[in-house]
Amino acid sequence: MTEAEGLARILAADRRELSGLGVHHFRKPGGTEPAVVLLACGPARAVLKDYGGQRGWFARVLGPLLIRREAQALRQLQGIRGIPALLRRIDRYGVIMEYVPAQPWKRVQPGAPAFERLDSLLRSMHARGVAHCDLRSPSNILVDDREQPYIVDFVARVRRGGRWNVVWNWIFARFCVADRNAMAKLKVRFAPELATAADRLHARHRGWPTRFARGVGSRIRDFTRLFVSRGPG
Ligand SMILES: Nc1ncnc2c1ncn2[C@@H]1O[C@H](COP(=O)(O)OP(=O)(O)OP(=O)(O)O)[C@@H](O)[C@H]1O
Ligand SMILES: [Mg+2]
Repeated sequence: MTEAEGLARILAADRRELSGLGVHHFRKPGGTEPAVVLLACGPARAVLKDYGGQRGWFARVLGPLLIRREAQALRQLQGIRGIPALLRRIDRYGVIMEYVPAQPWKRVQPGAPAFERLDSLLRSMHARGVAHCDLRSPSNILVDDREQPYIVDFVARVRRGGRWNVVWNWIFARFCVADRNAMAKLKVRFAPELATAADRLHARHRGWPTRFARGVGSRIRDFTRLFVSRGPG
């Protein structure tokens, strides 16, 4: 089987067939968390992010919203090197994207070229109108063994508003700053010898966009834990 044939099968598979193609769980589903599964068919690889396995009613409501957010961002960023391509939305609960052969940053601990590329990847992403908003979580920034960075997990993203939406675009710009500060933190943490004085300052800076994103995230988690553990299932 060629890679193209394998990919065509992944893209045509229904849920039952997809479960047979899973070869590794990056993340097991649980509570309101999705399953993140590596799919393989012959030499072809892809990643499924899926809320379809959860039985809690709250995850069934929240899941489609989060998958929609992720798919919208991937579509908007299509074609940028370092962002997985959106391959297919299987239904309201799941999305299949390109597999990128990379590991979380903290595991690889790459050098200066990777940081320079990550900087230009952030610029391209922001220029397309997407702020990631969860780059302080190091598992969302991956890097391959040729020092090419990748960004995954766009559920927390904020998108730029229309041309005249001045207030929203001001807010969007603050979230872009929060992304860059997260990159400074990554450098201070994993490559302190590369960090400048400005990086150290930015790494410490936890402006309201960062606090807001974190606050909303932990509030949603607490709230959903309450309902998912006690809800009717
Ligand atoms: N397209 C991809 N290619 C390769 N690996 C991926 C891809 N998408 C996700 N992963 C791997 O799966 C992990 C979890 O994915 P993701 O961050 O989207 O889910 P999550 O629910 O936020 O999990 P976590 O809380 O661990 O970050 C990532 O840290 C990464 O190692
Ligand atoms: Mg993540």
